[in-house]
Amino acid sequence: MKRRGLLAGAPVAGLAPGALSPDALIPRDYPAGVPAPGSFRFPPGFAFGVASSAYQIEGATREDGRGLGMWDVFCHTPGRTRGNADIAADHYHRMPEDVALMKAAGIRHYRFSVSWPRLFPDASFTPNPKGFAFYDRLLDELCAAGITPWMTLYHWDLPQWISAEGGWMNRDSASYMAEFAARAGAHFGDRVGHWMVMNEVAVQAILGYGIGVHAPGLVGREKSCAALHHMNLGQGYAIAALRAAGVRGRIGTVGSLEPVRPSSSAPEDVAAAAKFDALWNGAVLDPLFKGRYPALVEADFAPFVRAGDMAAIRQKVDFIGVNYYSRLHIQHTDKFDIGAIFGANPDPVKYRALRWPIEPDGLYEEVKYIHDQYGAPEIVITENGFATTTDPNPGNGLEDDGRLSYLAQNLAFLRKAADEGLNVKGYFVWALMDSFEWSEGTKWHFGLVRIEYPHLARTPRQSYYWYSDLIRAQGIEA
Ligand code: FCB
Repeated sequence: MKRRGLLAGAPVAGLAPGALSPDALIPRDYPAGVPAPGSFRFPPGFAFGVASSAYQIEGATREDGRGLGMWDVFCHTPGRTRGNADIAADHYHRMPEDVALMKAAGIRHYRFSVSWPRLFPDASFTPNPKGFAFYDRLLDELCAAGITPWMTLYHWDLPQWISAEGGWMNRDSASYMAEFAARAGAHFGDRVGHWMVMNEVAVQAILGYGIGVHAPGLVGREKSCAALHHMNLGQGYAIAALRAAGVRGRIGTVGSLEPVRPSSSAPEDVAAAAKFDALWNGAVLDPLFKGRYPALVEADFAPFVRAGDMAAIRQKVDFIGVNYYSRLHIQHTDKFDIGAIFGANPDPVKYRALRWPIEPDGLYEEVKYIHDQYGAPEIVITENGFATTTDPNPGNGLEDDGRLSYLAQNLAFLRKAADEGLNVKGYFVWALMDSFEWSEGTKWHFGLVRIEYPHLARTPRQSYYWYSDLIRAQGIEA
């Protein structure tokens, strides 16, 4: 098929002035070395989508009855983050335009999260009608656009009232999570085909409670393990609660799952990496699929595990979501009592803007590992993407060769996995649009669509068109 690229064109209905219309596509070569989107063929039914999360795009944090979240507090604590998400991408007000952008690209699957403090602003769990109305409208828009919703229940935005009680270090949080899931399931259960209960529990436990760079900003191995165990427990309870609520959709959960390597061959780095792997990957997957913690870290979790917990955590899931960006290279440190910290890849690799190495073969390795170790569960790549801090040529076609080539390389290895019969069924680009990237604020840009701050105009980058072509080239209704 012919390669197509972008040309600045007239706005179309539903898209903001300045946004490019797919009608404006003209034949054009993509950058040298980037495979034609038509060269990627995946098995019939393979889902291609884009991802987002509530806190990172919605803004409107003090509107329409939304409660306070742990991240609101963290972002407004001086020195913690680059700016705050009070406005973010203003998706709360521009949602129809964002759905129109997906529709225009032919994107048929959308992963997003609901904001717990928007749905249930306080400890009484009294529903906030305007919060529910927002997600009802979103589901209506998606349905009208022919886009399948993939709903994440918990993507890190814990209500502040729970955080004030100790957050995930407090065992009660697991029961709160069950309550949240039961109520969200009862309301949305007839319209959501794919559920993801939690996003990246280990990342929140380690970055938020272990090394303090994410909310709530706490430090310590014990805190981190307590938080992770209670998140695992909350996840188990929530899966059971969704099933009990009779939701129609398939139920899964999402981890940040990457192969771990030591940053050097020094014995202390090798040991730190092994233990970190057990914490980051093993303490997420083993409890879920095998009902136990990995031997290397079992003693760290033992103080928090009560009778019945492991059975509650071990749940049958319909799919496991894998967020993959690169392998993790780990070195020993005395700075944190988890004993490990992210280090460099010792091999000469091409680095990308955020210093995360480009390692697309690691995606294949991870998929194969999960397939082999955990009984061939259905795998969906729920995040994969590339960040820049600047646009090379802002306002002039928004070329993003780095992102294009990153996506193409990762997809090539994913296709290898699919070709070999591994049970991989979907792929979501992180992200539809530039988002509030947690501690890094709006400085990191992951979007297929550029958000121009502060006026927030949406402009598709070239990768948006490339991905659109790739989806259309499948020639199937994904
Ligand atoms: C993942 C998060 C997601 C986003 C990407 C870049 O760890 O799930 O919210 O920030 O990283």
